[in-house]
Amino acid sequence: MADVDVHELVEQIERIRAEAERALAAAETLQDVETVRVRFLGRKGELTAALSAMASLSSSDKPIAGNAANTAKRAIEESLEVRFQELSAEALTRQLKAERIDLTLPGRPVERGYSHPLLVALQEIVDIFIRMGYEVVEGREVEYEEYNFTKLNIPTEHPARDMWDTLYLSANMLLRTHTSPAQARVMETTRPPVRVIVPGRCYRNEAEDATHGIQFLQIEGLVVDTDITLADLKGTLYAFCRAYFGPDRELRFRPSYFPFTEPSAEVDVACAVCKGHGCRTCGFKGWLELLGAGMVHPNVLRAVGYDPQVYSGFAFGAGPDRLCIQKYGITDLRLFRENDLRFLEQFS
Ligand code: PHE
Repeated sequence: MADVDVHELVEQIERIRAEAERALAAAETLQDVETVRVRFLGRKGELTAALSAMASLSSSDKPIAGNAANTAKRAIEESLEVRFQELSAEALTRQLKAERIDLTLPGRPVERGYSHPLLVALQEIVDIFIRMGYEVVEGREVEYEEYNFTKLNIPTEHPARDMWDTLYLSANMLLRTHTSPAQARVMETTRPPVRVIVPGRCYRNEAEDATHGIQFLQIEGLVVDTDITLADLKGTLYAFCRAYFGPDRELRFRPSYFPFTEPSAEVDVACAVCKGHGCRTCGFKGWLELLGAGMVHPNVLRAVGYDPQVYSGFAFGAGPDRLCIQKYGITDLRLFRENDLRFLEQFS
């Protein structure tokens, strides 16, 4: 049993401690520090091995070796902690340097988007009517055939239905061909005085060309009250067109026919491109049709429960697509829907 000498054991412990300190000083990474810990303090570590030799010491020698071992262990633990902290701090400093952000660099510019020219035009038109005291209401893009036609004095076999062919979703539902169905919807739910505009998308079976699309915007106007006359309609449309185009664009009222107005008119504006001489944009007519209008037909008033003896009104349906091309002298409606940025950006 006496082959272990307590002094030798204490010296051995001291050597292990010194060796651990050297190894720690040489450690360059946190991983190195961990390796040192395992090598000296781990379950199969050098200090642990030295301690197992204590078992064969006499009971008077055990405390001496035990003391030395504990001191050494604590010292090594402390050194491990110190080195760990040092290397962590160094690693953090290195990382901060490597990932440093230069806050003084100018930012990457964010490209600003802009509204589509047609929506800008629509907003402008809506604003003009709001200033004249109109309320904005929304109709439905998917409508009942009854609202798109029947309630507008276009019964089932009426030939005017041919003019407004569209996509039918079922036997009695369709994509609206104009915003006029909203006339009936508004009047059914309110009493006069009525003064509304209805902007929105409409659909038609069309052969597309420079001035016709299968999908287009329309804005409906409806005014109903006692004593509304054709003069009110004319005055309103002149006021609107002057606000939108400026005072020097010519307007023309042409007698026309719509089943839901009587009398009816079409309003044309002198072509912005050729000023009335005729070109491709206006189909060589010199004038471009802007809107249909008229005095609300008594049958339409009756269909919504208004008494035509008491009330009268006017209505109009304008095409913002056409208003927009006329204002800017654009030669082809199709440009709006081709999504060519070179075209669209000019309106930003
Ligand atoms: N709804 C008609 C169209 O689309 C235009 C219109 C509206 C005419 C209101 C008269 C009154 O052609």
